[in-house]
Amino acid sequence: MPALGLGTWTMGEQRSRGQREADALALGIDLGMTLVDTAEMYGEGGAEKVVGRAISGRRDRVFVVSKVYPHNAGRKSAIAACERSLRRLATDRLDLYLLHWRGTIPLAETVGAFERLRADGKIVRWGVSNFALADMRELFALPEGPHCATNQVLYHLAERGIEWDLLPWMRERRMPVIAYSPLGQGALLGQSKLVAIARRLGTTPAQVALAWLLRRPDVIAIPESADPAHVRANRSAAGLRLDAPTLRELDTAFPPPTGPTSLAVI
Ligand SMILES: NC(=O)c1ccc[n+]([C@@H]2O[C@H](COP(=O)([O-])OP(=O)(O)OC[C@H]3O[C@@H](n4cnc5c(N)ncnc54)[C@H](OP(=O)(O)O)[C@@H]3O)[C@@H](O)[C@H]2O)c1
Repeated sequence: MPALGLGTWTMGEQRSRGQREADALALGIDLGMTLVDTAEMYGEGGAEKVVGRAISGRRDRVFVVSKVYPHNAGRKSAIAACERSLRRLATDRLDLYLLHWRGTIPLAETVGAFERLRADGKIVRWGVSNFALADMRELFALPEGPHCATNQVLYHLAERGIEWDLLPWMRERRMPVIAYSPLGQGALLGQSKLVAIARRLGTTPAQVALAWLLRRPDVIAIPESADPAHVRANRSAAGLRLDAPTLRELDTAFPPPTGPTSLAVI
């Protein structure tokens, strides 16, 4: 999976903004941010349509991720939901299909549907999102559970709880994590300690926040932006290397967890 991608949570909600959003995604893809993260939930299908416009003519260069609502994650309903997503995205396959969060449908049913979709070539791989360590353990106890390719969770400088146990557990299994809201939905960017570090490095808070995540080869970040200048800035974060003193400074400003915490979600 590409390490730096593009989020789409607030896209496809207003028709008047659709072209700008599709253009921002297309720009990001052309700059090399070739993983696009969307979901049937975003704009109730609107975001997938925007992604469909952005990937038109570029499909083979893009790693498309979408997500199924928990209430659509049954043996038959997940297959129907995936087919609706494929139509909106105007593609014949998803590179990764995620269960958006855990609901009440038994995991074994969802895994069965994902495996069926994989066998039929409608998805290349599947994974989960917002799964705590206990959920991951339960998933891996199922016969096909270890086919899970990733867990997409909230992870950024000011939200480091997963470093205690979930991230090491995934690392042991060589499973990458997809860090959502890597800029803390924008709120992180105004934090004075991050602003000061970015200023000293001659860069921006967004670039430091992304470079901090991307320093690990198994962390994928999916910042969302509809602003072409922000997309370019986010792209260049992939080339920013943070030295050891800066990483120590960031640890002081945004301390790692000192014990287990419940998984943070948005
Ligand atoms: N699985 C889940 O449950 C889940 C939950 C939340 C999010 N996600 C995924 O993760 C993606 C990213 O998370 P997010 O959208 O919540 O938040 P985010 O990417 O952390 O932050 C997005 C905000 O930051 C701004 N921004 C982006 N780049 C910037 C830059 N270089 N400088 C200044 N501001 C910048 C954007 O505004 P502009 O448009 O003005 O740039 C937007 O307001 C989502 O789009 C979605 O695909 C998944």
